[in-house]
Amino acid sequence: MIQLAPSILSADFSRLGEQVRLVEDAGAEVLHIDVMDGHFVPNLTFGPALVKSLRAHSSMRFDVHLMVEAPELFISDFAAAGADHITVHLEAASHLHRVIQQIKEHGMTAGVSLNPATPLDGIKYILQDLDMVLLMTVNPGFGGQKFIANVIPKIQVLHRHLKQTGSSCLIEVDGGINLETAPVAVKAGANILVAGAAIFAQPDPKQAVEKLRQAAHS
Ligand code: DX5
Ligand code: ZN
Repeated sequence: MIQLAPSILSADFSRLGEQVRLVEDAGAEVLHIDVMDGHFVPNLTFGPALVKSLRAHSSMRFDVHLMVEAPELFISDFAAAGADHITVHLEAASHLHRVIQQIKEHGMTAGVSLNPATPLDGIKYILQDLDMVLLMTVNPGFGGQKFIANVIPKIQVLHRHLKQTGSSCLIEVDGGINLETAPVAVKAGANILVAGAAIFAQPDPKQAVEKLRQAAHS
């Protein structure tokens, strides 16, 4: 069962509550919230206050993607705001094991994200502790970029490894997911598809969710 995770990065922020309700009504399971600090990535977005506001309007799982340096500084604030899951970047966490334990101690599920050029080796000794691995299929920082096909073998290798070891860890892909790339990512082994522009930049986001679901299962 493939889960869809609309990314609010491409939503119309002037009517965010309405846009979130739209994708929730369309059956999207997860809401992907991109947090950027202007250091780890060259862009700025939102913080825990936004998560808290949206929490009152949605019962979707809140999947917070932290594209920030020193992610350990923000875990308790996002937990208090109502996040269900936090993903940190391997490239931004100097004490990865510690921050993963911190996320779990706050009652959330935990994930690690890898940029497109980062090999899987760095998560070898933490994989058993993870609920999810987020494989970036664009360089993080912006919505609406082109899917980097070089990442497909990385999805396949991780998927094979998780299957062989009987792991329940999920694979999420993020960046450039659309009607063409969704089935490719799913065939490679992805379980959760993040999509920003392919949903919120469409005239009818509800229909876009439905079409993406069909494509993911095709
Ligand atoms: C990029 C973000 C993504 C972004 C994806 O840094 O992590 O979640 O919203 O946007 P699309 O689906 O438009 O590539
Ligand atoms: Zn993201």
